[in-house]
Amino acid sequence: MGTFLSVAATSAGLSVALARFAPQYSLGVAVTAVTLFVIQSLSYAIWHVVIYPRFIDPLRHIPEPPARDFLLGHTKNILREPTGWPMRKWIADVPNNGFIRYSMWFRRRLLLTTPATLSEVLVTKNYDFVKPGNIVKTLGRILGIGILFAEGDEHKMQRKNLSPAFAFRHIKNIYPIFWQKSIEMTDCMAAAVAAAKAEPTNTSHDDGTAKPDIGLESQRHERRRLGVIEVGNWASRATLDIIGLCGMGRDFNSLQDPSNELNKTYKSLAEPGSGARILGLAALFLPFWLLKLLPIKRNTQLSEASAYIKQVCRDLIIRKRKDVLEEKAAGTDILSVALDSGAFSDEELVNQMMTFLIAGHETTATSMTWAIYLMCKHPDIQKKLRAEVRSSIPHLHSEITAATIDDCHYLQAVCNETLRLWAPVGLTSRVAACDTTIQGQFIPKGTAIILAPATINTSTELWGPDALEFKPERFLGPDGKANNQGSAKSNFAFLTFLHGPRSCIGQRFAQAEFACILAAWIGRFETAFEQDSAMAKGELEVRSGVTSKPKGGVWVTVEEVAGW
Ligand code: HEM
Repeated sequence: MGTFLSVAATSAGLSVALARFAPQYSLGVAVTAVTLFVIQSLSYAIWHVVIYPRFIDPLRHIPEPPARDFLLGHTKNILREPTGWPMRKWIADVPNNGFIRYSMWFRRRLLLTTPATLSEVLVTKNYDFVKPGNIVKTLGRILGIGILFAEGDEHKMQRKNLSPAFAFRHIKNIYPIFWQKSIEMTDCMAAAVAAAKAEPTNTSHDDGTAKPDIGLESQRHERRRLGVIEVGNWASRATLDIIGLCGMGRDFNSLQDPSNELNKTYKSLAEPGSGARILGLAALFLPFWLLKLLPIKRNTQLSEASAYIKQVCRDLIIRKRKDVLEEKAAGTDILSVALDSGAFSDEELVNQMMTFLIAGHETTATSMTWAIYLMCKHPDIQKKLRAEVRSSIPHLHSEITAATIDDCHYLQAVCNETLRLWAPVGLTSRVAACDTTIQGQFIPKGTAIILAPATINTSTELWGPDALEFKPERFLGPDGKANNQGSAKSNFAFLTFLHGPRSCIGQRFAQAEFACILAAWIGRFETAFEQDSAMAKGELEVRSGVTSKPKGGVWVTVEEVAGW
C-alpha cells in the first residue's frame, strides 16, 4: 500500500514541478498528475504481474498449481474454498520438492509441503521467519504485542518467563478445574434443554434464557426445534470460563450467565459479519493508519471490545498485585506465574492476558464443535467413547486426576484425530526476515511462507490413502495406548499446534481441557444432529476465519443416558 501512496505522491509532485518549470510539457496540473499516475501504475503492474515473476524471480522455477489466472493468480480458487483446501489438491497433484509456489492478491507465496522444509522453518531457522506485518498490525490492534507477536530475543524472553505456567507438572494440577467446568457445562445444558421443553413459548434458542438478540451468528438462525442446542455456543462459554480461572484466577461465569458483558464482547469479536469482511478487503488497498480511521461500525466495535477486555485484564492485574502485597498465597494461574517472574510491566501483562484469552479460548471451543460434529456423524464411535469414559470415571461427579483422563486412550485418540482432521487454525504464515535458505533453496528476504495444518494434516503422502477419513485408531499404538504422532512417520505430519520455539505454548493445556469437556459431554449425553437439518442430511459448509468452523454452527439434540 505504501507503493500506492508513493505513486500518487510522485505523480502529484512531478505534475506540479512540470507546470512550474517546463509548462510546455504540462497538460495542466490535474490531467498531468492523473496521466503520470496511470503510467506509473501500469508500469508497476506489468513489472509485478509479468516481468518479475516470469523472468527474474529466483523462485520462478518452483512448481505452481495449474488454473492460474493471469492477473489474480490463484486468488479466486482460494476464496471459493475453506482455508487450506485448495492446497490439499495441490499437495497431492503437483509434483514438488518441498515447496509449491502460488499467488494470491498479486503476491507470490511458498507453501511448505514436507517435514524437512517445515522443520527447517519452524525449528532450525525459526527466527529467520517472522509473523507478517499486516497480521501483527490488525490482530495486534486488538491484542497488543504479547508473546504471539513478539519476535527474536523479546519473544525468547517472554516465552521463558511464561513457560512455567504451561509445564506438565503444573497442567496436571489443573485437570480438576477443567473437569469441574465440564460438569458445570453439562449441568447448565441439561437445565436449559429441560427449561426449553417445559416452556414452549420461550423465545430463546438454546440456553433456556429469554434474552435480547446479542448478535451471535448462531442466534441469527431462526428458532429451532425445542431443546435443540448449538455446540459452539456452549463450548465457547466453557472454554472462556476455563481460561478465566486457569489464566487469571477469575471465574467469568459465562456458563451460568451467557449475557454477561465479557461473553457478549467476545462474541462481537469472534462473529464479526459483513463489517469485518469490508474491513478485511479494504486492508488490501489501504494503509493501516487509514483503515483505523474509516467510519465503519466494525472499527468502533473493535476498539470498544478491545478497550473493554483490556480493562477487565487491567483490573485483574491490579487485584493480583494487591494480593501479592498483602502476602496472600500466590495463585497457580498464568497471570500469577507471569507476575511472579517480575519480567513484565502492567501494560505488558495486559497484552499477555489479552493474548491468552483470545488464543486459548476460541481455538479449543472450535475443536469441541468439530468433535461433536464427528460424534454425530459416527454414532458407533460416540458409543464406544461413552463406554470407555464411563468405565474409567464411575460417575460424572467423581473426582478425577490427570491420570484418569490421560489413561482414557480412546478418548485421547478421538481428540487427536479431531485435531488432525479439523485443525482449528487451518493456515498460518511467516515472512523471511532476511535472505536465507530452506533445504538449500535460496529464499529472498520478504518471501511469504505458508504453513498449512489443514493441508499437511490430511496429506495422503504423510497419512496414507484414508487421510481424509475420521479414524481415531490411527492414534493408538499396538498396545492400545494413545500417542501424539499417530500413524504418520514424522511428527511434522501433525501440524495443528505447529512445532518448535513458536509452537502453541498452550498445547498440553488445550489437549487436557478438550479431553475433559468431550468426556463429560459424551459421557453424559447421547448427541445427534437436529432431525432433518442439513447436517443430518450429510451437508456441511465450512466458514473460514482465524479458525475454521461449520457454517451456521452445529445444532444437536442431547439425551441424558441413564446410569452415570
Ligand atoms: C485446540 C486448541 C488450540 C490450537 C489448535 C492452537 C493452535 C495454535 C497455533 C497453530 C499457534 C501458532 C500460531 C502461529 O505462530 O502462527 C498457536 C500459538 C499460541 N497459542 Fe495456541 N492453540 C490452541 C489452544 C491454546 C490455548 C488453550 C492457549 C493458552 C492457554 C494457547 C496459547 C497460545 C499462545 C500464547 C501462542 C503463541 C506462542 C508463541 O508465539 O510463542 N493456545 N496456537
